[in-house]
Amino acid sequence: MNVLLLGSGGREHALAWKLAQSRGLDTLYAAPGNPGIAAHATIVALDATDHDAVTAFAQGHAIGLVVIGPEAPLVDGLADSLHAADVAVFGPGKAAARLEGSKGFTKDLCARAGIPTAGYVRVTTLQEARAALDRFGAPVVVKADGLAAGKGVTVATTRAAAEAAVADLFAAPDAEAVIEEYMEGEEVSLFVLTDGRTLLPFGTAQDHKRVGEGDTGPNTGGMGAYSPAAVLTPELEVQAIREIVAPTVTALAAAGTPFSGVLFAGLMLTATGPKLIEYNARFGDPECQVLMARFEGDLLATMLCVADGRLSEAPAVRFSDDAALTVVLAARGYPGTPVAGGAIGGIAAAEAMGVRVFQAGTRMADDGLVAAGGRILAVTATGADVAAAQAAAYRGVDAIDFPDGFHRRDIGWRAVARDICRTRRGART
Ligand code: AMP
Ligand code: GLY
Repeated sequence: MNVLLLGSGGREHALAWKLAQSRGLDTLYAAPGNPGIAAHATIVALDATDHDAVTAFAQGHAIGLVVIGPEAPLVDGLADSLHAADVAVFGPGKAAARLEGSKGFTKDLCARAGIPTAGYVRVTTLQEARAALDRFGAPVVVKADGLAAGKGVTVATTRAAAEAAVADLFAAPDAEAVIEEYMEGEEVSLFVLTDGRTLLPFGTAQDHKRVGEGDTGPNTGGMGAYSPAAVLTPELEVQAIREIVAPTVTALAAAGTPFSGVLFAGLMLTATGPKLIEYNARFGDPECQVLMARFEGDLLATMLCVADGRLSEAPAVRFSDDAALTVVLAARGYPGTPVAGGAIGGIAAAEAMGVRVFQAGTRMADDGLVAAGGRILAVTATGADVAAAQAAAYRGVDAIDFPDGFHRRDIGWRAVARDICRTRRGART
């Protein structure tokens, strides 16, 4: 079968790498792709916002499955356009993708279905926003509605910071926002495949959203991640699926807009149990890199079962018992304006050490690979536990030569600290 993969990040490089190992794959096409993806796929020039062009390409190249990596084409309804032409798609249609595209939509769905999440008010004016701030006090969370690439959320610790955030938001015309109660706890990501009926848990991860070590500084798309996230115990995972994911899938199906694809639930593990922070309608980046490093099944066969509504027939999902950890190398300046064009070397040397280097914002220039974006590489390793995967990943990072880049040295610190505590406790008892 021929497959078309849309996207150009580290997430899509990881998907391409795994799809290329699928027995049923004939030709993998990727658009727009990147030089890393090009090792596994034929790169084609296709604009995902041009639904007619994507559909015509799929029909003209006997594409049996289109895999949509990023959120924008999902929220834009590309899956619906492809379905209308009888092309199978991994990823939800526009109506179900509102789970990611509109925070207000998701909060209303949670309220109707009794799904545990932070208390909230949807507001459309500065006056309403101020009234909501009166109600919640500080700390409080202010979120712009709509896709914001991780930048539309302010966790305000003081009333003044919250006032500034709403003033900023409502300076724009037609703004909509959600004001939320602040939830205390540790964050974890849960991935679940669904065809709208059947649920198939697809791994856990924890990412590092802040740019600086110790989880400080501005938010980014993610500076690193590891899997599994043991803080989500099997019992908590079952609880989160029963109380959060399953009722969401049921509510969307009942509304006539079933969700098909991967549901990425951002959870807060609070003192009173897991609560939903947000949904994404696609794999996380860089969470996908660590999931793919551990996934031992046939990705194409699994994705086809999702796309065809046959998930109940899918082979059991197998993940390695090993942990995986990925470190993002970003271009200096990210998440602000990144330095473009920095030379990148040492990928082969790093891979010779057993790590896998997924490419994100890269471009092939006349004299070699250069940076072309914010997040550039995701250096990914596995190991018997998170500490071992972390040590292996940083050995790989140290083999990379990217003078215009930077990375965090502490990816996975929570899990590593927890493992050390457990070992110490074990030694005492
Ligand atoms: P979101 O884009 O909704 O995932 O929010 C971005 C980040 O803001 C999350 O990863 C959390 O760290 C934080 N956050 C969002 N909502 C809340 C909340 N209600 N309580 C505490 N932190 C939150
Ligand atoms: N790493 C977070 C995301 O993909 O949304």
